[in-house]
Amino acid sequence: MKKEKSRHSFSGSLGFVLAAAGSAVGLGNIWRFPYLAAKDGGGLYLVIYLILALTFGFALLTTEIAIGRKTKQSPLTAYGKIKEKWGFLGVLACLVPVIIMPYYCVIGGWVVKYFLAYLTGDGAAAAADGYFTGYITGTVQPLVFMAAFLAVVAFIIFRGVNRGIESFSKVLMPLLLLMVVGIAVFSLTIQFTDDAGVKRTGMEGFQIYVVPNLKGLTVKGFFTVLLDAMGQLFFSLSVAMGIMIAYGSYVQDDANLVKSINQIEIFDTAVAFLAGVMIIPAVYTFMGREGMEASGPGLMFVSLPKVFASMGKVGNLIGCLFFAMVLFAALTSAVSVMEAVVSSLMDKFQMSRTKATVVEVAIALAGGVLVCLGYNKLYFEIKLPNGAVAQILDIMDYISNNCLMPLVAIGTCVLIGWVTGPKTVIQEVEKTGCKFGRKRLYIVMLRYIAPVLLVVLLLKSIGILTVI
Ligand code: PHE
Repeated sequence: MKKEKSRHSFSGSLGFVLAAAGSAVGLGNIWRFPYLAAKDGGGLYLVIYLILALTFGFALLTTEIAIGRKTKQSPLTAYGKIKEKWGFLGVLACLVPVIIMPYYCVIGGWVVKYFLAYLTGDGAAAAADGYFTGYITGTVQPLVFMAAFLAVVAFIIFRGVNRGIESFSKVLMPLLLLMVVGIAVFSLTIQFTDDAGVKRTGMEGFQIYVVPNLKGLTVKGFFTVLLDAMGQLFFSLSVAMGIMIAYGSYVQDDANLVKSINQIEIFDTAVAFLAGVMIIPAVYTFMGREGMEASGPGLMFVSLPKVFASMGKVGNLIGCLFFAMVLFAALTSAVSVMEAVVSSLMDKFQMSRTKATVVEVAIALAGGVLVCLGYNKLYFEIKLPNGAVAQILDIMDYISNNCLMPLVAIGTCVLIGWVTGPKTVIQEVEKTGCKFGRKRLYIVMLRYIAPVLLVVLLLKSIGILTVI
Protein backbone atom coordinates (compact mmCIF):
# COMPACT_ATOMS: atom_id res chain seq x y z
CA MET A 1 0.00 0.00 0.00
CA LYS A 2 2.21 2.82 -1.12
CA LYS A 3 -0.58 5.34 -0.50
CA GLU A 4 -0.38 4.85 3.27
CA LYS A 5 2.67 7.02 3.66
CA SER A 6 0.98 10.11 2.37
CA ARG A 7 -2.15 9.66 4.46
CA HIS A 8 -3.04 12.75 6.45
CA SER A 9 -3.50 12.67 10.19
CA PHE A 10 -5.02 14.94 12.80
CA SER A 11 -2.34 17.13 14.35
CA GLY A 12 -3.20 15.93 17.86
CA SER A 13 -5.87 14.50 20.13
CA LEU A 14 -7.72 17.79 20.46
CA GLY A 15 -8.27 18.05 16.72
CA PHE A 16 -9.51 14.47 16.57
CA VAL A 17 -11.82 14.82 19.57
CA LEU A 18 -13.37 18.03 18.27
CA ALA A 19 -13.81 16.66 14.75
CA ALA A 20 -15.42 13.46 16.05
CA ALA A 21 -17.57 15.40 18.51
CA GLY A 22 -18.50 17.67 15.61
CA SER A 23 -19.79 14.65 13.77
CA ALA A 24 -21.61 13.26 16.79
CA VAL A 25 -23.23 16.53 17.79
CA GLY A 26 -25.84 17.10 15.14
CA LEU A 27 -29.51 17.63 14.54
CA GLY A 28 -30.27 14.49 16.56
CA ASN A 29 -28.87 16.06 19.73
CA ILE A 30 -30.94 19.14 19.25
CA TRP A 31 -34.31 18.03 17.98
CA ARG A 32 -34.59 14.41 18.99
CA PHE A 33 -32.90 13.99 22.34
CA PRO A 34 -34.95 16.66 24.20
CA TYR A 35 -38.19 15.44 22.66
CA LEU A 36 -37.55 11.82 23.69
CA ALA A 37 -36.55 12.94 27.18
CA ALA A 38 -39.80 14.85 27.61
CA LYS A 39 -41.86 11.97 26.24
CA ASP A 40 -40.12 9.23 28.21
CA GLY A 41 -40.39 10.44 31.78
CA GLY A 42 -37.53 12.92 32.02
CA GLY A 43 -34.89 11.70 34.44
CA LEU A 44 -35.51 8.02 33.78
CA TYR A 45 -34.62 8.45 30.12
CA LEU A 46 -31.55 10.48 31.05
CA VAL A 47 -30.25 7.81 33.43
CA ILE A 48 -30.83 4.99 30.94
CA TYR A 49 -29.20 7.00 28.17
CA LEU A 50 -26.14 7.65 30.30
CA ILE A 51 -25.73 4.00 31.26
CA LEU A 52 -26.06 2.95 27.63
CA ALA A 53 -23.57 5.59 26.52
CA LEU A 54 -20.96 4.26 28.94
CA THR A 55 -21.46 0.63 27.87
CA PHE A 56 -23.14 0.04 24.52
CA GLY A 57 -22.08 3.32 22.91
CA PHE A 58 -18.57 3.03 24.24
CA ALA A 59 -18.16 -0.46 22.76
CA LEU A 60 -19.36 0.54 19.28
CA LEU A 61 -17.37 3.76 19.19
CA THR A 62 -14.16 2.10 20.38
CA THR A 63 -14.50 -0.66 17.80
CA GLU A 64 -14.90 1.66 14.83
CA ILE A 65 -12.17 4.10 15.82
CA ALA A 66 -9.77 1.23 16.45
CA ILE A 67 -10.61 -0.40 13.09
CA GLY A 68 -9.83 2.91 11.40
CA ARG A 69 -6.53 3.46 13.14
CA LYS A 70 -5.41 -0.14 12.76
CA THR A 71 -6.11 -0.40 9.03
CA LYS A 72 -5.41 3.23 8.10
CA GLN A 73 -8.21 2.80 5.62
CA SER A 74 -11.60 4.40 5.05
CA PRO A 75 -14.77 2.33 5.57
CA LEU A 76 -15.03 0.98 2.04
CA THR A 77 -11.67 -0.79 2.27
CA ALA A 78 -11.12 -1.12 6.03
CA TYR A 79 -13.36 -4.13 6.67
CA GLY A 80 -11.73 -6.09 3.87
CA LYS A 81 -8.32 -5.36 5.34
CA ILE A 82 -9.41 -6.74 8.71
CA LYS A 83 -10.82 -9.90 7.06
CA GLU A 84 -10.91 -10.23 3.33
CA LYS A 85 -14.22 -12.05 3.09
CA TRP A 86 -15.91 -9.28 5.07
CA GLY A 87 -15.23 -6.58 2.53
CA PHE A 88 -18.94 -6.47 1.71
CA LEU A 89 -19.54 -4.85 5.12
CA GLY A 90 -17.40 -1.96 3.96
CA VAL A 91 -19.63 -1.50 0.93
CA LEU A 92 -22.72 -1.38 3.17
CA ALA A 93 -21.02 0.96 5.64
CA CYS A 94 -20.07 3.30 2.82
CA LEU A 95 -23.53 3.21 1.30
CA VAL A 96 -25.01 4.79 4.43
CA PRO A 97 -23.25 8.17 4.11
CA VAL A 98 -23.87 8.14 0.34
CA ILE A 99 -27.61 7.96 1.06
CA ILE A 100 -27.57 10.34 4.02
CA MET A 101 -25.59 13.16 2.41
CA PRO A 102 -28.24 14.40 -0.06
CA TYR A 103 -31.04 14.74 2.44
CA TYR A 104 -28.77 16.04 5.18
CA CYS A 105 -27.91 18.89 2.81
CA VAL A 106 -31.58 19.58 2.19
CA ILE A 107 -32.17 19.87 5.94
CA GLY A 108 -28.98 21.92 6.23
CA GLY A 109 -30.51 24.23 3.63
CA TRP A 110 -33.62 24.65 5.78
CA VAL A 111 -31.37 25.68 8.68
CA VAL A 112 -29.54 28.22 6.50
CA LYS A 113 -32.89 29.69 5.45
CA TYR A 114 -34.05 30.11 9.07
CA PHE A 115 -30.70 31.47 10.19
CA LEU A 116 -30.86 34.12 7.47
CA ALA A 117 -34.46 34.94 8.36
CA TYR A 118 -33.45 35.72 11.95
CA LEU A 119 -30.23 37.43 10.94
CA THR A 120 -32.16 39.88 8.79
CA GLY A 121 -34.62 40.54 11.62
CA ASP A 122 -37.38 38.62 9.92
CA GLY A 123 -37.93 36.12 12.72
CA ALA A 124 -41.58 37.08 13.19
CA ALA A 125 -42.38 35.93 9.65
CA ALA A 126 -40.80 32.54 10.37
CA ALA A 127 -43.25 32.08 13.24
CA ALA A 128 -46.32 32.50 11.03
CA ASP A 129 -48.51 29.47 10.35
CA GLY A 130 -47.62 27.74 7.12
CA TYR A 131 -44.16 29.35 6.79
CA PHE A 132 -42.29 26.07 6.94
CA THR A 133 -44.59 24.16 4.60
CA GLY A 134 -44.66 27.12 2.24
CA TYR A 135 -40.88 27.13 2.14
CA ILE A 136 -40.18 23.44 1.64
CA THR A 137 -42.83 23.07 -1.05
CA GLY A 138 -41.33 25.98 -2.99
CA THR A 139 -39.41 25.27 -6.18
CA VAL A 140 -36.37 27.52 -6.16
CA GLN A 141 -35.36 28.47 -2.61
CA PRO A 142 -34.96 24.98 -1.12
CA LEU A 143 -32.69 24.07 -4.04
CA VAL A 144 -30.58 27.19 -3.68
CA PHE A 145 -30.09 26.81 0.07
CA MET A 146 -29.37 23.10 -0.25
CA ALA A 147 -26.69 23.83 -2.84
CA ALA A 148 -25.23 26.61 -0.68
CA PHE A 149 -24.94 24.30 2.31
CA LEU A 150 -23.39 21.58 0.16
CA ALA A 151 -20.89 24.06 -1.27
CA VAL A 152 -19.62 25.04 2.19
CA VAL A 153 -19.26 21.39 3.22
CA ALA A 154 -17.45 20.57 -0.01
CA PHE A 155 -15.09 23.51 0.50
CA ILE A 156 -14.10 22.22 3.95
CA ILE A 157 -13.56 18.68 2.63
CA PHE A 158 -11.61 19.95 -0.33
CA ARG A 159 -9.19 21.70 2.06
CA GLY A 160 -8.37 18.35 3.62
CA VAL A 161 -8.05 16.77 7.04
CA ASN A 162 -5.92 19.44 8.75
CA ARG A 163 -6.70 22.68 7.01
CA GLY A 164 -10.35 21.71 6.52
CA ILE A 165 -11.98 19.31 8.95
CA GLU A 166 -9.68 19.90 11.90
CA SER A 167 -9.32 23.66 11.72
CA PHE A 168 -13.04 24.26 11.17
CA SER A 169 -13.99 21.93 14.03
CA LYS A 170 -11.57 23.71 16.33
CA VAL A 171 -13.39 26.97 15.74
CA LEU A 172 -16.99 25.83 15.36
CA MET A 173 -17.22 23.37 18.25
CA PRO A 174 -16.12 25.69 21.09
CA LEU A 175 -18.42 28.37 19.67
CA LEU A 176 -21.27 25.90 19.54
CA LEU A 177 -20.71 24.90 23.16
CA LEU A 178 -20.66 28.53 24.24
CA MET A 179 -23.94 29.25 22.46
CA VAL A 180 -25.66 26.16 23.83
CA VAL A 181 -24.65 27.04 27.40
CA GLY A 182 -25.70 30.68 26.92
CA ILE A 183 -29.13 29.85 25.52
CA ALA A 184 -29.66 27.13 28.16
CA VAL A 185 -28.99 29.59 30.99
CA PHE A 186 -31.31 32.12 29.38
CA SER A 187 -34.01 29.47 29.04
CA LEU A 188 -33.95 28.81 32.79
CA THR A 189 -34.62 32.45 33.60
CA ILE A 190 -37.74 33.02 31.49
CA GLN A 191 -41.33 33.25 32.67
CA PHE A 192 -44.62 33.85 30.93
CA THR A 193 -48.29 34.30 31.76
CA ASP A 194 -50.59 32.98 29.05
CA ASP A 195 -54.01 34.31 27.95
CA ALA A 196 -55.74 32.12 30.50
CA GLY A 197 -53.68 33.78 33.25
CA VAL A 198 -51.54 30.71 33.93
CA LYS A 199 -47.99 31.58 34.83
CA ARG A 200 -45.20 29.19 33.88
CA THR A 201 -41.46 29.44 34.44
CA GLY A 202 -38.37 27.99 32.86
CA MET A 203 -37.39 26.37 36.14
CA GLU A 204 -40.64 24.38 36.18
CA GLY A 205 -39.88 23.19 32.68
CA PHE A 206 -36.41 22.17 33.80
CA GLN A 207 -37.93 20.03 36.53
CA ILE A 208 -40.14 18.25 34.02
CA TYR A 209 -36.99 17.51 32.08
CA VAL A 210 -34.75 16.13 34.81
CA VAL A 211 -36.98 14.72 37.56
CA PRO A 212 -37.85 11.07 36.83
CA ASN A 213 -41.56 10.62 36.32
CA LEU A 214 -42.17 7.03 37.31
CA LYS A 215 -45.92 7.36 37.80
CA GLY A 216 -47.70 4.51 36.06
CA LEU A 217 -44.48 3.10 34.62
CA THR A 218 -45.03 -0.42 33.29
CA VAL A 219 -42.57 -3.03 32.10
CA LYS A 220 -43.64 -2.29 28.55
CA GLY A 221 -43.14 1.41 29.19
CA PHE A 222 -39.68 0.72 30.51
CA PHE A 223 -38.73 -1.15 27.33
CA THR A 224 -40.01 1.71 25.23
CA VAL A 225 -37.73 4.09 27.11
CA LEU A 226 -34.81 1.68 26.77
CA LEU A 227 -35.28 1.30 23.03
CA ASP A 228 -35.83 5.01 22.49
CA ALA A 229 -32.61 5.78 24.35
CA MET A 230 -30.71 3.10 22.47
CA GLY A 231 -31.89 4.20 19.05
CA GLN A 232 -31.06 7.79 19.87
CA LEU A 233 -27.60 6.95 21.21
CA PHE A 234 -26.79 4.86 18.18
CA PHE A 235 -27.70 7.69 15.81
CA SER A 236 -26.06 10.30 17.99
CA LEU A 237 -22.61 8.76 18.12
CA SER A 238 -22.37 8.61 14.30
CA VAL A 239 -21.48 4.93 14.38
CA ALA A 240 -22.38 2.34 11.72
CA MET A 241 -21.91 4.73 8.84
CA GLY A 242 -18.19 4.51 8.37
CA ILE A 243 -17.52 7.96 9.78
CA MET A 244 -15.67 6.91 12.89
CA ILE A 245 -13.56 4.49 10.84
CA ALA A 246 -12.56 7.30 8.49
CA TYR A 247 -11.75 9.66 11.36
CA GLY A 248 -10.02 6.86 13.29
CA SER A 249 -7.73 6.31 10.30
CA TYR A 250 -6.39 9.84 10.76
CA VAL A 251 -5.49 9.36 14.43
CA GLN A 252 -1.78 9.18 15.13
CA ASP A 253 -0.40 5.89 16.34
CA ASP A 254 0.78 7.25 19.66
CA ALA A 255 -2.54 8.86 20.64
CA ASN A 256 -4.42 7.61 23.69
CA LEU A 257 -7.66 6.25 22.22
CA VAL A 258 -9.38 5.54 25.54
CA LYS A 259 -9.05 9.13 26.68
CA SER A 260 -10.23 10.54 23.34
CA ILE A 261 -13.24 8.21 23.20
CA ASN A 262 -14.31 9.27 26.70
CA GLN A 263 -14.03 12.90 25.72
CA ILE A 264 -16.09 12.41 22.56
CA GLU A 265 -18.82 10.68 24.54
CA ILE A 266 -18.84 13.37 27.22
CA PHE A 267 -19.04 16.14 24.63
CA ASP A 268 -21.87 14.49 22.73
CA THR A 269 -23.89 13.65 25.83
CA ALA A 270 -23.33 17.06 27.41
CA VAL A 271 -24.56 18.89 24.31
CA ALA A 272 -27.61 16.62 24.06
CA PHE A 273 -28.42 17.26 27.72
CA LEU A 274 -27.90 21.00 27.36
CA ALA A 275 -30.07 21.07 24.24
CA GLY A 276 -32.84 19.78 26.48
CA VAL A 277 -32.15 22.51 29.04
CA MET A 278 -32.32 24.99 26.20
CA ILE A 279 -35.49 23.75 24.53
CA ILE A 280 -37.77 22.08 27.10
CA PRO A 281 -38.08 24.98 29.58
CA ALA A 282 -38.64 27.46 26.73
CA VAL A 283 -41.26 25.39 24.95
CA TYR A 284 -43.00 24.54 28.24
CA THR A 285 -43.07 28.16 29.41
CA PHE A 286 -44.55 29.56 26.23
CA MET A 287 -46.62 26.66 24.94
CA GLY A 288 -47.40 24.47 27.93
CA ARG A 289 -47.11 20.72 28.04
CA GLU A 290 -48.89 20.20 24.69
CA GLY A 291 -46.19 22.23 22.94
CA MET A 292 -43.65 19.60 23.88
CA GLU A 293 -45.30 16.94 21.79
CA ALA A 294 -43.84 18.12 18.51
CA SER A 295 -40.66 16.39 17.42
CA GLY A 296 -38.39 16.42 14.41
CA PRO A 297 -38.70 19.21 11.90
CA GLY A 298 -41.97 20.26 13.53
CA LEU A 299 -40.24 21.13 16.78
CA MET A 300 -37.35 23.00 15.28
CA PHE A 301 -38.94 24.79 12.35
CA VAL A 302 -42.51 25.31 13.57
CA SER A 303 -42.73 25.30 17.38
CA LEU A 304 -39.47 27.03 18.26
CA PRO A 305 -40.02 30.04 15.97
CA LYS A 306 -43.33 30.54 17.79
CA VAL A 307 -41.50 30.39 21.11
CA PHE A 308 -38.98 32.98 19.92
CA ALA A 309 -41.83 35.21 18.73
CA SER A 310 -43.44 35.04 22.19
CA MET A 311 -40.23 36.26 23.78
CA GLY A 312 -40.72 39.75 22.38
CA LYS A 313 -37.76 41.82 21.18
CA VAL A 314 -35.03 39.53 22.47
CA GLY A 315 -36.63 36.61 20.57
CA ASN A 316 -35.06 37.59 17.27
CA LEU A 317 -31.59 37.62 18.77
CA ILE A 318 -32.09 34.31 20.56
CA GLY A 319 -33.49 32.80 17.34
CA CYS A 320 -30.49 34.03 15.41
CA LEU A 321 -28.05 32.53 17.94
CA PHE A 322 -30.05 29.33 18.05
CA PHE A 323 -30.05 28.77 14.30
CA ALA A 324 -26.37 29.74 14.04
CA MET A 325 -25.69 27.05 16.61
CA VAL A 326 -27.82 24.50 14.74
CA LEU A 327 -26.01 25.43 11.54
CA PHE A 328 -22.61 24.72 13.14
CA ALA A 329 -23.89 21.39 14.44
CA ALA A 330 -25.27 20.44 11.03
CA LEU A 331 -22.15 21.58 9.16
CA THR A 332 -19.66 19.58 11.21
CA SER A 333 -21.88 16.49 10.94
CA ALA A 334 -22.29 16.89 7.19
CA VAL A 335 -18.52 17.31 6.83
CA SER A 336 -18.01 13.94 8.50
CA VAL A 337 -20.59 12.27 6.27
CA MET A 338 -18.91 13.60 3.16
CA GLU A 339 -15.44 12.66 4.39
CA ALA A 340 -16.54 9.05 4.87
CA VAL A 341 -17.45 8.90 1.17
CA VAL A 342 -14.57 10.99 -0.16
CA SER A 343 -11.92 9.07 1.78
CA SER A 344 -13.48 5.81 0.56
CA LEU A 345 -13.23 6.92 -3.05
CA MET A 346 -9.65 8.02 -2.49
CA ASP A 347 -8.58 4.72 -0.90
CA LYS A 348 -10.45 2.39 -3.19
CA PHE A 349 -9.92 4.06 -6.54
CA GLN A 350 -6.74 6.02 -5.79
CA MET A 351 -8.53 9.24 -6.67
CA SER A 352 -7.15 12.60 -5.65
CA ARG A 353 -9.07 14.46 -2.91
CA THR A 354 -10.26 17.02 -5.43
CA LYS A 355 -11.59 14.45 -7.84
CA ALA A 356 -13.27 12.41 -5.08
CA THR A 357 -14.90 15.57 -3.73
CA VAL A 358 -16.25 16.48 -7.16
CA VAL A 359 -17.71 12.99 -7.63
CA GLU A 360 -19.41 13.05 -4.21
CA VAL A 361 -20.74 16.58 -4.74
CA ALA A 362 -22.31 15.45 -8.01
CA ILE A 363 -24.01 12.50 -6.30
CA ALA A 364 -25.20 14.61 -3.36
CA LEU A 365 -26.44 17.36 -5.64
CA ALA A 366 -28.44 14.98 -7.82
CA GLY A 367 -29.90 13.27 -4.76
CA GLY A 368 -30.57 16.60 -3.06
CA VAL A 369 -32.52 17.88 -6.06
CA LEU A 370 -34.66 14.75 -5.97
CA VAL A 371 -35.33 15.20 -2.27
CA CYS A 372 -36.37 18.84 -2.76
CA LEU A 373 -38.63 17.94 -5.67
CA GLY A 374 -40.16 15.30 -3.41
CA TYR A 375 -42.07 18.12 -1.73
CA ASN A 376 -43.57 19.58 -4.89
CA LYS A 377 -43.23 18.23 -8.46
CA LEU A 378 -42.56 14.67 -7.36
CA TYR A 379 -44.86 14.69 -4.37
CA PHE A 380 -46.34 11.35 -3.33
CA GLU A 381 -47.16 9.62 -0.11
CA ILE A 382 -46.32 6.06 0.71
CA LYS A 383 -46.58 4.13 3.91
CA LEU A 384 -43.38 2.64 5.26
CA PRO A 385 -43.29 -0.79 6.92
CA ASN A 386 -43.02 0.93 10.30
CA GLY A 387 -46.28 2.77 9.66
CA ALA A 388 -44.87 6.26 8.91
CA VAL A 389 -46.19 8.21 5.92
CA ALA A 390 -43.20 9.12 3.81
CA GLN A 391 -41.82 11.35 1.07
CA ILE A 392 -38.44 10.87 -0.65
CA LEU A 393 -36.51 12.27 2.32
CA ASP A 394 -38.21 9.91 4.76
CA ILE A 395 -37.64 6.92 2.50
CA MET A 396 -33.91 7.62 2.32
CA ASP A 397 -33.80 8.19 6.05
CA TYR A 398 -35.64 4.92 6.61
CA ILE A 399 -33.30 2.88 4.43
CA SER A 400 -30.15 4.32 5.94
CA ASN A 401 -31.07 4.72 9.60
CA ASN A 402 -33.61 1.99 10.19
CA CYS A 403 -32.26 -0.77 7.97
CA LEU A 404 -28.63 -0.34 6.94
CA MET A 405 -27.15 1.16 10.10
CA PRO A 406 -28.30 -1.58 12.50
CA LEU A 407 -27.16 -4.16 9.93
CA VAL A 408 -23.69 -2.64 9.67
CA ALA A 409 -23.41 -2.44 13.46
CA ILE A 410 -24.49 -6.07 13.89
CA GLY A 411 -21.99 -7.14 11.23
CA THR A 412 -19.22 -5.19 12.95
CA CYS A 413 -19.99 -6.83 16.32
CA VAL A 414 -19.96 -10.29 14.76
CA LEU A 415 -16.77 -9.65 12.82
CA ILE A 416 -14.77 -8.27 15.75
CA GLY A 417 -16.54 -10.13 18.55
CA TRP A 418 -16.51 -13.60 17.01
CA VAL A 419 -14.61 -13.87 13.72
CA THR A 420 -11.34 -12.09 14.47
CA GLY A 421 -11.90 -11.83 18.22
CA PRO A 422 -11.93 -8.70 20.41
CA LYS A 423 -8.15 -8.81 20.67
CA THR A 424 -8.02 -7.13 17.24
CA VAL A 425 -9.39 -4.00 18.84
CA ILE A 426 -7.89 -4.45 22.30
CA GLN A 427 -4.35 -4.72 20.94
CA GLU A 428 -4.86 -1.62 18.87
CA VAL A 429 -6.12 0.35 21.86
CA GLU A 430 -3.36 -0.89 24.15
CA LYS A 431 -0.48 -0.67 21.70
CA THR A 432 0.72 2.65 23.10
CA GLY A 433 0.67 1.24 26.61
CA CYS A 434 -2.55 3.02 27.47
CA LYS A 435 -4.81 1.28 29.95
CA PHE A 436 -8.05 -0.14 28.53
CA GLY A 437 -10.11 0.39 31.69
CA ARG A 438 -13.36 -1.23 30.64
CA LYS A 439 -11.81 -4.17 28.79
CA ARG A 440 -13.99 -6.92 30.27
CA LEU A 441 -17.07 -4.85 29.86
CA TYR A 442 -16.04 -4.20 26.27
CA ILE A 443 -15.74 -7.89 25.45
CA VAL A 444 -19.09 -8.81 27.00
CA MET A 445 -20.78 -5.88 25.32
CA LEU A 446 -19.38 -6.56 21.90
CA ARG A 447 -19.95 -10.30 21.86
CA TYR A 448 -23.27 -10.69 23.62
CA ILE A 449 -25.19 -7.62 24.70
CA ALA A 450 -24.69 -5.21 21.80
CA PRO A 451 -25.65 -7.71 19.05
CA VAL A 452 -28.82 -8.69 20.92
CA LEU A 453 -29.79 -5.07 21.55
CA LEU A 454 -29.08 -4.25 17.92
CA VAL A 455 -31.20 -7.08 16.57
CA VAL A 456 -34.10 -5.90 18.76
CA LEU A 457 -33.54 -2.36 17.51
CA LEU A 458 -33.48 -3.53 13.89
CA LEU A 459 -36.69 -5.54 14.29
CA LYS A 460 -38.38 -2.59 15.91
CA SER A 461 -37.27 -0.03 13.38
CA ILE A 462 -38.36 -2.12 10.40
CA GLY A 463 -41.73 -2.61 12.03
CA ILE A 464 -41.53 -6.34 12.72
CA LEU A 465 -41.40 -6.00 16.46
CA THR A 466 -44.44 -4.04 17.53
CA VAL A 467 -45.13 -5.34 21.03
CA ILE A 468 -42.68 -2.89 22.57
N1 PHE B 1 -24.78 12.14 15.05
C1 PHE B 1 -25.57 13.17 14.47
C2 PHE B 1 -26.64 13.64 15.42
O1 PHE B 1 -26.74 13.26 16.55
C3 PHE B 1 -26.28 12.78 13.26
C4 PHE B 1 -25.54 12.41 12.10
C5 PHE B 1 -26.24 11.95 11.10
C6 PHE B 1 -24.21 12.57 11.96
C7 PHE B 1 -25.66 11.60 9.98
C8 PHE B 1 -23.61 12.22 10.86
C9 PHE B 1 -24.34 11.71 9.87
O2 PHE B 1 -27.42 14.43 15.03
